[in-house]
Amino acid sequence: MLYTNMSLRRYAPIIILQLCILSGEPAEAKVPALIVFGDSTVDTGNNNYISTVVRSDFAPYGRDLRLGNGQPTGRFSNGRLTVDFISEAFGLPPLVPPYLDPSANMSSLAAGACFASAGAGYDNATSDLLSVLTIWKQLDYFKEYAAKLRSFQGEEKAQETLTEALYLVSMGTNDFLENYYAVPHGNAAKYPTAAAYGGYLLGAAESFVRALHALGARKVDLNGMPPMGCLPMERALGGACTEEYNAVAEEYNVGLRAVIGRLNGELSGARIVYGDVYGPVSDALGHPGSYGLENVEAGCCGATGRFEMGYLCNARSPLTCADAGKFAFWDAIHATERLHHALADAKMNTTLHVFL
Ligand SMILES: *[C@@H]1O[C@H](CO)[C@@H](O)[C@H](O)[C@H]1NC(C)=O
Ligand SMILES: *[C@@H]1O[C@H](CO)[C@@H](O)[C@H](O)[C@H]1NC(C)=O
Ligand SMILES: *[C@@H]1O[C@H](CO)[C@@H](O)[C@H](O)[C@H]1NC(C)=O
Repeated sequence: MLYTNMSLRRYAPIIILQLCILSGEPAEAKVPALIVFGDSTVDTGNNNYISTVVRSDFAPYGRDLRLGNGQPTGRFSNGRLTVDFISEAFGLPPLVPPYLDPSANMSSLAAGACFASAGAGYDNATSDLLSVLTIWKQLDYFKEYAAKLRSFQGEEKAQETLTEALYLVSMGTNDFLENYYAVPHGNAAKYPTAAAYGGYLLGAAESFVRALHALGARKVDLNGMPPMGCLPMERALGGACTEEYNAVAEEYNVGLRAVIGRLNGELSGARIVYGDVYGPVSDALGHPGSYGLENVEAGCCGATGRFEMGYLCNARSPLTCADAGKFAFWDAIHATERLHHALADAKMNTTLHVFL
């Protein structure tokens, strides 16, 4: 009896492995949870629960979110965000729940949690400008989440979830556009050039990833900057992209790849990947036809599509487009679901497939 038990134990893993091969299904997703930090590009609704003017929990935001019955959720888009599509691609839920939603429970948050806050940046001063969550506050909430996960799943299982989870970090645009170029605050005011300020932001990004690693993160998708000079609000009169902003974004991205290379060599077990946003978004803006897009210069929301966003993009905004599927941008700054989906596909195909 004892002998049988022991051999069963010894062979059980092999039997399970064979069953998995036979059924063609992995026993468990390799990425059990998607954990998100950043700004409005990835905030699935946390700002609904803090006191800030940076919000989108009203129509017509969310109008094409079929899974949410076309209701606004606090996503700055007409539908789902890149992180929602990525979550689904990993076999996780199709919508990533915002951590601050009081109705979110640990059974749903165990498969993914979003700590991002629209308006946030790597620089504390950027987030403070609009009273949104700094990255460090986002990290504090993550620590609270990890503790809750330990009571919910038990120490061992929670440890496995936190180690195998994919951590996605996306921000930086607000540091340049809301802070440096608009109303330089705090650190931004101390740097003579945008490139020098970019160096400061890279330092903050590096500290953040080191802090995540110290808390157990191993798989990290650290996203670069988009072609921010091509956002409708930043385009010149006539619609041309502001090349100066794009050059700053590209220089930052070169620096970010160097930071990632260094961190991968230094941090034990780290698998940090560079999340290319610039390439796929430029490709969509440069070849709209291949993506089914007809307008890549103005946002769908409002009469001009050049300044309407947040409260200025509302149910009474006249001339909001009928079919946002033909637009790259939903409002003056934020991508449509169509562009988010294209970005998620590109990220899965070129980078994140290594974690599948
Ligand atoms: C947890 O939240 C999910 C999603 O909102 C819901 O479907 C589920 O019923 C909740 N579970 C409990 C135990 O409250
Ligand atoms: C940003 O704020 C956090 C606390 O919220 C603090 O620990 C950190 O030192 C600040 N960073 C800088 C560069 O001031
Ligand atoms: C990603 O790969 C899928 C499947 O191979 C393909 O259909 C899709 O066009 C690719 N998308 C991008 C953006 O590369």
